[in-house]
Amino acid sequence: MADTTTRILRGRLLTFHGAPSGPDDGDAYSYIEDGALLLQNGLIAARGAFSEVEAQAPASTLVTDHRPHLILPGFIDTHIHFPQAQVIASWADQLLDWLNDYTFPAELKFADKAHADRIAKGFYDALLAHGTTTAVAYCSSHPNSVDAYFEEAERRGMMMLGGKTMMDRNAPEALCDTAQSSYGDSKALLSKWHKNGRARYVITPRFAITSTPEQLEAAGSLLKEFPECHLQTHINENHNEIAYTRELYPDAAHYLGVYESFDLLGPRTLLGHCIHMTGHELQVMRETGSVAVFCPTSNLFLGSGLFDKSGLESAGIRTAIATDVGGGTNYSMLRTLDEGYKILQLQRQRMHPLTSFYWITRGNAEALQLADRIGTLEAGTDADIVVLDANATPAKALRMETVETLSEELFLLQTLGDDRCVVETYVAGTPQKDRISSVGS
Ligand code: GUN
Ligand code: ZN
Repeated sequence: MADTTTRILRGRLLTFHGAPSGPDDGDAYSYIEDGALLLQNGLIAARGAFSEVEAQAPASTLVTDHRPHLILPGFIDTHIHFPQAQVIASWADQLLDWLNDYTFPAELKFADKAHADRIAKGFYDALLAHGTTTAVAYCSSHPNSVDAYFEEAERRGMMMLGGKTMMDRNAPEALCDTAQSSYGDSKALLSKWHKNGRARYVITPRFAITSTPEQLEAAGSLLKEFPECHLQTHINENHNEIAYTRELYPDAAHYLGVYESFDLLGPRTLLGHCIHMTGHELQVMRETGSVAVFCPTSNLFLGSGLFDKSGLESAGIRTAIATDVGGGTNYSMLRTLDEGYKILQLQRQRMHPLTSFYWITRGNAEALQLADRIGTLEAGTDADIVVLDANATPAKALRMETVETLSEELFLLQTLGDDRCVVETYVAGTPQKDRISSVGS
C-alpha cells in the first residue's frame, strides 16, 4: 500500500539516465554525495541536494538519514519462477532432468491455494530482503497461484508482473492445461489483474516443448487481443532442449521460428536465456524488438552455456538480466551481477560496474518499457528504492578501506555483496525491512 507519510531520505544518491557508453560516461548517471529524495504519496516528489530538498519539503517532514549509504532505485528482476522457491538449490542434472525431477513435482503443489499463499509470503519476503522491488514471474499452471501471487503483491503495494504458465504436454498430467483452458484461464486472470493497481499480467507459455502448436496459437491470440501485455517464454537454453524442440516442430526454420510463426514476438516479449542463438534468429530478434534475458546463476547452475551480451547487443538486440530462481541460485541481483560478470569475462567481455548497476535498475526497466514508473530516482516516478551498505561485513569493510571511487564501491558491492548489504528497501515510499516477516501474517 502506498504510504501517505511524507518523508525525506538523506544519503548518497545514484540514478541512471541511460546506458553508460564507457567508464567515463558521466552523462549516463547522476550521483549526489549529500543528496535527498522527498517521498510523498508513494512517489518521488523531488530529488536533489539535501539542502534544496529540505527547503522545499513541508515543515517538520520526517528525515531518515541513510548516510553514508548509497540510495538507488529498487532492483528489477526480469525472470523468476514464483513456484520454485522450494526448488532452488536442488542437486540436479541439466535443464530437462531438472524440470522433471524437481521442478514439476514442486509446481504440482500449487494446486493448493493455501500452499501458494504461504509460498507467496516467503517469496516476497526474499525479494524485498534482497532489494528487489519489481519482478517478472512465472506462476504455476494453476490459476490459484496467479491469485496468490498478485494478492500478496497488492498487500505489499509492489509493482509485480506475472502470469499463469501455459503448458499442455510433456509434463505430469495434473500440471497440464489444454490450449482452450489455458486461453480461457489466462484471459480471465488478465482481466482480473492487469493494471489492477500496480499489477501487470504477462502471457506465459512455458516453452515450445510443453506447448502444442494449438496452445502457442492461443498465446498468440491473447497477445493480439491484449498487445499492451508482456509475453514471456524460454528459448535456446540447453542443447537437448533445442534438439527436442526441433523434433516437435520440424517445419520451423529454427527455435525462434516456432515462436515467430505464432506471432509471439515483439517489443514486450521477454525471452529467457537466448544462449545458443543462430544468425537468423539474431536477425528476427532485432527486427521484432524482442528482449533477450540473461540468467547468469541459472546458466551456470544448470550448465547451460554462456550468454553473449556483446554479440547480442551489437546485433541490435535488447537485453535484460534476471535471477531465474529456482534454476538460478540466488534472489540477489548483486550475486546475479557477480556471476554474470564472470560469464562475460570468460568471453573477454568485461562489464563495467556502472553498466552493471544501470542494468539491474533503469536498464531492466527500459527492457520492460516501464522506465517512466520504476528503475530511476526521477521525480514523479514510484518510490521503489534500495539502500546499500558496502561496509556490511568486516571483510567488506576491510576492502572498503582502499576504495576511492564510486565505481570501485559498486564493483565491491556486486562482487562481495548480497542481502547483508541491503539496509532498507522502500516500496511505494514505505520502508519494508521491519515488515518483512509480518506482512500478511
Ligand atoms: N525452460 C522451461 N521451463 C523452465 C524453467 O522453469 N526454468 C528454466 N531455467 N528453464 C525452463
Ligand atoms: Zn526460467
